[in-house]
Amino acid sequence: MTPKNDVYRCRVCDNVIEILKSGDGKLVCCNAPMELLKYRSEGSGEEKHVPVLEKTESGFKVMVGNMPHPMEENHCIDWIEIRADGKIYRQSLNPGEEPQAEFFLDPETVNQISVRSYCSIHGLWKS
Ligand SMILES: [Fe+2]
Repeated sequence: MTPKNDVYRCRVCDNVIEILKSGDGKLVCCNAPMELLKYRSEGSGEEKHVPVLEKTESGFKVMVGNMPHPMEENHCIDWIEIRADGKIYRQSLNPGEEPQAEFFLDPETVNQISVRSYCSIHGLWKS
């Protein structure tokens, strides 16, 4: 069974999908099984990939890495996502933009929050 919110990538065409509802089927793209992306939170490259969450007056700001991640055509942060009390907010990013996002939520009303980001080469990271 594919767990809800897991992220899969096609090794052939680079499609990336998220499971919105669990099912029993095997995920296939380009006639090959899709790869389940495992979270990374430390190790090689963590200084440029682990999302850093910061409270602001108007919500939350997420920066990817303590050192800014490259935002080039073939290597960039594709999206940053926060999950706040079961609601998901996602910012898509493009090459040339900053590897960061702001989410306008009242920090005082949020009890549980988690953050993840996706690098087009180095995969899924969380903090
Ligand atoms: Fe990367």
